[in-house]
Amino acid sequence: MILQCNPKAGYLAHKKEIDEACLRVLDSGWYILGGECLAFENEYSKFNQTEFALGVANGTDALELALRAIGITAGDQVVTVSHTAVATVSAISRVGAEPVFVDVLDDYTLDPEQLETVLKQIDAKAVIVVHLYGQPADMGLIMPIAKQFNVPVIEDCAQAHGALINNKKVGSFGIVGCFSFYPTKNLGGIGDGGMLVTSNKEVYEAAKVIRQYGWKERYISEVQGINSRLDELQAAILRIKLKYLQQSNQQRQKLAQFYFDNLFDTHLFLPAKRSGTEHVFHQFVVRTQNRDYLQSRLSEKQIATAVHYPKPVHQQPAYNDPKYCPLPLVNTERLCSQILSLPMYPELSENEVAAVSDAVNSILY
Ligand SMILES: Cc1ncc(COP(=O)(O)O)c(C=O)c1O
Repeated sequence: MILQCNPKAGYLAHKKEIDEACLRVLDSGWYILGGECLAFENEYSKFNQTEFALGVANGTDALELALRAIGITAGDQVVTVSHTAVATVSAISRVGAEPVFVDVLDDYTLDPEQLETVLKQIDAKAVIVVHLYGQPADMGLIMPIAKQFNVPVIEDCAQAHGALINNKKVGSFGIVGCFSFYPTKNLGGIGDGGMLVTSNKEVYEAAKVIRQYGWKERYISEVQGINSRLDELQAAILRIKLKYLQQSNQQRQKLAQFYFDNLFDTHLFLPAKRSGTEHVFHQFVVRTQNRDYLQSRLSEKQIATAVHYPKPVHQQPAYNDPKYCPLPLVNTERLCSQILSLPMYPELSENEVAAVSDAVNSILY
């Protein structure tokens, strides 16, 4: 069986170091918000070219805290994409705000032209840009548009740890960047975890207070906060994984190139690579009219694939409200019936990529 993703392989690749780190934490007697979390925050802010980083319980919380820290409240409109993990949108609704969806381009990232059209129509209070599948969105176009309308940009980098635009890390363009450390992510823990990065001190401090019950001083809540702490075990494990992130992203890029070289079927639409950007291939997503057929034939050949995601958020029961969609989402609705995520993780072998490519080529011809 060729797996679509394989978080256990990511553990086994560094088992000795990870086991030692876990024992160190267990022996320390300090399990929440201690030295490991602080050290990881410092290391991650350096890595991500931002002044501050704040460890939180998961990526959805990172987005919620980011929204609250920049002052988004009930009834505010927040522009984002519908072609994303539902978590992007659930963070918006958790603060009582309303999502306003715009379409995506053929590379699955936010369409800057539609953003401009929508910002002319509504009084949006923020934009959440998603760097989906490891592909950086076009921040060179998006940031000036948002600036023109004076709307802060939050970057959802849950699938794009280490991705670059002109050598600048995603998460350092907008006012806040949000990451998830869900086990299958490019930087994945062995449990839940998340991080918020920013170079804005006020935003950092506001988020830090909300992270723990609204406390500035212990047991005194200045604001109505939540509990969203990154635990010491995850932080210790993630510090080790961070040391190898660049290497594992390069391995993903190498495997992606292997797919590009071996998938010769002309009916397949392969991932776009925008010049000046470094895609980190959280997923390798192809497109075909015969998606369901391709997926079931691959499954018969013991090759696992996935669909990220089968239903756009605006068509899901919880978010199916016409007021969230001022413009038709033509690309979003077209793409989701055609996309297929092929196996992709750093420990996948070139032989396995060759086997997947041969299988795809033979099924579609
Ligand atoms: C694009 C995107 N945003 C947000 C999240 C939320 O992260 P988490 O699952 O850690 O809450 C995820 C992960 O599932 C994601 O893929």
